[in-house]
Order: sequence, then structure tokens, then C-alpha cells
Amino acid sequence: MSELGVFEAIYTARALRKLKPDPVPEDLIERVLDAAIRAPSAGNAQNWIFIVVRDPATRAGLGDIYRRASDIASAMYAARGRPPHMTEEQFQRMMGSGAYLWDHMRDAPVILIPCQSAPRLPRREDLPPQFQAGFEEEQRYMQQIRGASIYPAVQNIILACRALGLGTTITTNHIRLERELKDLLGIPEDVHTFAMMPIGYPLGRYGPLARKPVAEVARRDRWDGAWAAGPSPR
Ligand SMILES: Cc1cc2nc3c(=O)[nH]c(=O)nc-3n(C[C@H](O)[C@H](O)[C@H](O)COP(=O)(O)O)c2cc1C
Repeated sequence: MSELGVFEAIYTARALRKLKPDPVPEDLIERVLDAAIRAPSAGNAQNWIFIVVRDPATRAGLGDIYRRASDIASAMYAARGRPPHMTEEQFQRMMGSGAYLWDHMRDAPVILIPCQSAPRLPRREDLPPQFQAGFEEEQRYMQQIRGASIYPAVQNIILACRALGLGTTITTNHIRLERELKDLLGIPEDVHTFAMMPIGYPLGRYGPLARKPVAEVARRDRWDGAWAAGPSPR
């Protein structure tokens, strides 16, 4: 199989929510997971577990949780309104595509749940005295960077799916009802779920991805340093 270039994958791996019901071969899922575990994690902890759900009853349970959690999310989106960088058409397309998944999460042949166990902190009393006072600060720091040790793996999953001709998207709505999901899948107390990713052969097409231009989001040296737009990199 000829491999897709990394930039081609990055520029075209859009959120694909409409998926065919056809089964996805296990060796493809294995390859996706093998790409996921190449991701960086703080201290190389690799404290992740990826739950691959194919069982129809369990998928139905996940779909139900996702559906109800999405009711909360859609109320939030509606109250917040369209972000200024999106046209009304782009916003409606995103909302419509999102709404499709509320009712169809369960139909994805595979639902992948990336999980992460709590990061390991030393006991305060084992720290040198001059660092003990900063223990709460360290806890806050660990909390703030927690997602940074699982979301790179999620992005690898997105890109690997793209390269293998599969469709997926990161979703997080279910976290609003995470307790239910943890009970459904038997996930231990000190483990959290960071995404719910439907995976299957896509009905829609890949990319291109529309984003705010670099000149709008990059700064030179300082917050107030304008980015002089150069030639297009593509
Ligand atoms: C942290 C995060 C949470 C997201 N949660 C959801 C979600 O719950 N449901 C959903 O359909 N899409 C979700 N998305 C996907 C975004 O809607 C999508 O990445 C964005 O609209 C860009 O889509 P595009 O890559 O197709 O242009 C999430 C994305 C991120 C990064």
C-alpha cells in the first residue's frame, strides 16, 4: 500500500462523522493503535489504555450516553452562537454534521475510547523541604498538562485513520456523563476517558480543511508582534 505524505494527511484529515456500517479489519485497528502509542507523553509515562468497542450492545450504550451528553453541548453552542471567524454556512454545516453523530455514534463499527490513568505524583513528605511548600502548585501543574499526554495520541489516531482510508473524529461530549460511561465499560476510578472516536470507512470525502490563516494566529517574538504574511507554504 502506498503511504500518504504527512502533510497531505494533515491537510485533509477532517472530522468525518458519517461512516459506513462495514466492519473495519482488526489489522487496520491494530495499525491505528500502533501509531497512537508512538505519541509523546509527559515523562514518557505512557499511562494510556485504548478501549476498542465493537460489541453492538456496548456501542448502543455508548451511543445513548453520547446522545444525552450532546443535548447539553448543543444547548451550550446555541446559547454561545456562531464564532466570528465562521460564516453562517460553515457554522450550520458544523452543527448539522455534529447533530448527525448524536444519533449515529452507535452505528460506527468501531468506537475507540482513549483513557489515561492518573499521573503519579510523589508524596509531599518525600520531597526535599524547600519543594514541599509548592506541592499544591505542582498538583495544579499536573492537572493542567494532563490532556497533553493523551491528545497527541488522539491526533496520531486521526492521521493514521486518514492514511488507512478510514474516517474518524475526536469527540468529548460524553465526558459530561463520564460516570455512566465508566460504569458501562468497567473503567477503574483513577482512570479518565479523554475522547470517544467513531471509526469506520467514511461516507463523506476527506479535506480540505478551512482554518484561520497563520498570519492571524501567529505572532513574532511577543504577543503584540505582528506576523508579516509571507508566501503561501503550499
Ligand atoms: C477537544 C475537542 C472536542 C470535540 N468534541 C466534539 C464532539 O463532542 N462532537 C463532535 O461532533 N465533534 C467534536 N469535535 C470536533 C470539532 O467539531 C472539529 O474538530 C472542528 O469542527 C473542525 O472540524 P474539521 O477538522 O472537519 O474542519 C471536537 C474537537 C476537539 C478538538
